[in-house]
Amino acid sequence: MTTGKAITKAVIPAAGLGTRFLPATKAMPKEMLPVVDRPAIQYVVEEAVKSGLTDLLTGRNKRSLEDHFDREPGLERALELKGDKDRLESVQYASELGPIHYVRQGEAKGLGHAVLCAAQHVGDEPFAVLLGDDLIDEAEDLLTTMMEVQQKTGGSVIALIEVDPAQISAYGCADITAVEGEDYVRVNSLVEKPAVGDAPSNLAVIGRYVLHPAVFGILEETEPGRGNEIQLTDALQTLAAGEGEGSGVYGVVFKGRRFDTGDKLSYLKAVITLASERVEFGEDLKTWMKGFVNS
Ligand code: UTP
Repeated sequence: MTTGKAITKAVIPAAGLGTRFLPATKAMPKEMLPVVDRPAIQYVVEEAVKSGLTDLLTGRNKRSLEDHFDREPGLERALELKGDKDRLESVQYASELGPIHYVRQGEAKGLGHAVLCAAQHVGDEPFAVLLGDDLIDEAEDLLTTMMEVQQKTGGSVIALIEVDPAQISAYGCADITAVEGEDYVRVNSLVEKPAVGDAPSNLAVIGRYVLHPAVFGILEETEPGRGNEIQLTDALQTLAAGEGEGSGVYGVVFKGRRFDTGDKLSYLKAVITLASERVEFGEDLKTWMKGFVNS
């Protein structure tokens, strides 16, 4: 089965409260925290564009996001006058990634609610969801693989990673069955942040989804769950258990590098890892770190 509809739209929710990063995120979304020299969300927007998605929608509850992806004539002119070509290009590049549309999620009522806010813009087409604080290594093509699986199955597709079983209660967890002859799996059920002993597997849901538009109707009916938030996982669970058009959830198990920048420790690891790979100062940073660790 295929939906026959190409995937062109990406929804990048960025309207969470970011409480783990307070007070830094009091007046700025956590997706705007810099990872070396780009806000986290710019990596995610670049990934969507690289995967061929041309219509991007993000949750706006703070102006900095919109300003970052917009032109900044005053700054551009100042850099031009200084002859600072490289910085001028980097500033202009961010405003050329679009078109990016913005929708306001009035209240942070959960990821499921954030996705539901995109319903009108997305319409009746399968679409991608990329969490703005979850970075996937630029060398990987996870999203492209997921879009292919969506087109092949006609259902919804989630990305999974294997985690240490002791860590599973920090994630959504999937119970899966292998699909013969395919490199994706069938998702039988999903459970949000299970207790370690109750987890059906060590496969954790990460922040990339390719969803059938049937998810919108289900989200409308989904009651607030864990944390009094409308959980995307609960809607996916309904799709996984359902039959008929748009049902069925599949998983792609991702083995590459990924960084969760919404958590302080993994944010710092992301910054250090990506900085240490930069040609301009990576070697200097590593030399300094060795000395720092030994001191
Ligand atoms: P998180 O689970 O990381 O929650 O959201 P959070 O509120 O942003 O952060 P903490 O836990 O309080 O520190 C996962 C993704 O869903 C988005 C977030 O911006 C993030 O990209 N989100 C979450 C929304 O857009 N709206 C919401 O109501 C909740």
